[in-house]
Amino acid sequence: MDQKIDFEAIDLTGPPPGQEPDRQYYFIARCRLWVREFLEKQGRLPRACVVNYGCQMNARDSEKLAGILKEIGYDLTESEEADFVIYNTCTVRDNANQKVYGRLGYLNGNKKKNPHMKIALCGCMMQEPSAVEKIKRSYGFVDLIFGTHNIFKLAELLDVCLRQDGMIIDLWEDTDQIVEALPVDRKYPFKSGVNIMFGCNNFCSYCIVPYVRGRERSRKPEDILKEIRSLVDQGVVEIMLLGQNVNSYGKNLPEPMTFAQLLTEVEGIRGLKRIRFMTSHPKDLSDQLIQVMQNSKKICRHLHLPLQSGSSRLLKLMNRHYDKEQYIALAQKIRKAIPDIAITTDIIVGFPGETEEDFKDTLDVVEKVQFENAFTFIYSKRTGTPAAAMADQVPPEVAHRRFDRLLSLVQETAKRRNALLVGTKQTVLAEEVNSHENGMLTGRMSNNALVHFNGPADLVGSLCAVRLTESKGFYYIGQYLQQEDEK
Ligand code: SAH
Ligand code: SF4
Ligand code: F3S
Repeated sequence: MDQKIDFEAIDLTGPPPGQEPDRQYYFIARCRLWVREFLEKQGRLPRACVVNYGCQMNARDSEKLAGILKEIGYDLTESEEADFVIYNTCTVRDNANQKVYGRLGYLNGNKKKNPHMKIALCGCMMQEPSAVEKIKRSYGFVDLIFGTHNIFKLAELLDVCLRQDGMIIDLWEDTDQIVEALPVDRKYPFKSGVNIMFGCNNFCSYCIVPYVRGRERSRKPEDILKEIRSLVDQGVVEIMLLGQNVNSYGKNLPEPMTFAQLLTEVEGIRGLKRIRFMTSHPKDLSDQLIQVMQNSKKICRHLHLPLQSGSSRLLKLMNRHYDKEQYIALAQKIRKAIPDIAITTDIIVGFPGETEEDFKDTLDVVEKVQFENAFTFIYSKRTGTPAAAMADQVPPEVAHRRFDRLLSLVQETAKRRNALLVGTKQTVLAEEVNSHENGMLTGRMSNNALVHFNGPADLVGSLCAVRLTESKGFYYIGQYLQQEDEK
């Protein structure tokens, strides 16, 4: 939010405005009255806890939820023994859902101890009718359910929830709306995610995201640039541009624009030091983007380029629109153009019909590309996706064995590759005090690798020159040399 809103000055005598975000400002102001009453009766502020599951996009949504709750006047806490607990859920794999069901029992215990407590669920899992049915059936103590398309409505829904009992459900199937200018409570003062687009149109055959996040919508470049300028004014030095497929940014804007063009505009923002982005779909990665990265001083030397499978046959069934050879050629082209880049990836094992031969193709790509890091997943069947209905689902024990083999190869190749940087001097953004070891900080290099290095706590948020002394596989130990920026 750029300008400070004076919520006390909002007239609550009339009906709520129809326009957003004014409507939400009105409900924030109404909830603030409830908070004042709570304070008078209880002698303390009500506490709220936002728990995030899932990806960076969900994490950014959670910061928006926290921002609204903070403006309402809640005391934000990490403890789930709060007066309002909201889970922002993920449903990309079944274990994400199971975690939520597991935690709900514990939350109910807290609710029994605290008569004021309200429990809310939102996010991707709530966009699945079967999950909502199960909650209605077996977790009747949940007070509020909403989805991914209407998270901006938290204040309005909370206003109802605080004044009445019973489960309130507000779910939208889709939206073309993007509500700007709502409050945000950021986790880190020096870095931030920035949404550039919402939804996904790719319909990879295993993936639930397009069904729960809706169609692809790009934010207007002027809104994105305004938000980043405002973040920089508040002390942010690193931003991560967020979208399920950033390479298709801008295609549906009234005045179309490419992702590479957007990056060039972002590069021009004074005071911004680092630019990251997530995620790149290989099918849409343009030469223009490689060129912009090559010439950039601010775009980090990291590309997350999900492979999913190395088998051309499976890639076709996955609806990924590239084959094994094209992926390898693309990775090689990128490494040639930007030699210090780290390429990381996501890989799924056990996709329906995966044979030993298909799996060997995946191992082969790992050998050839030598990913600096890879997130490996066992295929999880998502109801409603085309892959769920495919024949030849791979038996779990076969998938687990392949998963272990893949993981050891990824570890081995990454270790080999990451060892090459030992001895070099790198710029590291110090992100936090290392909780395991006294006097140590943890930060990230431009190529996204983690580095643990010695240094005082007040370096957090600064770019530091660090000599890498040891590689531990996926992370490094380093020796602090000097601060590189003026704070
Ligand atoms: N939009 C991103 C990925 C979002 S989901 C992209 O296209 O790259 C993050 C990762 O979860 C995916 O890259 C994929 O590897 C994994 N994933 C998605 N659906 C899955 C499923 N049904 N089973 C296992 N892993 C899955
Ligand atoms: Fe899912 Fe594919 Fe969209 Fe990524 S691009 S979110 S894997 S459908
Ligand atoms: Fe999960 Fe939704 Fe992200 S399903 S991975 S939180 S888009």
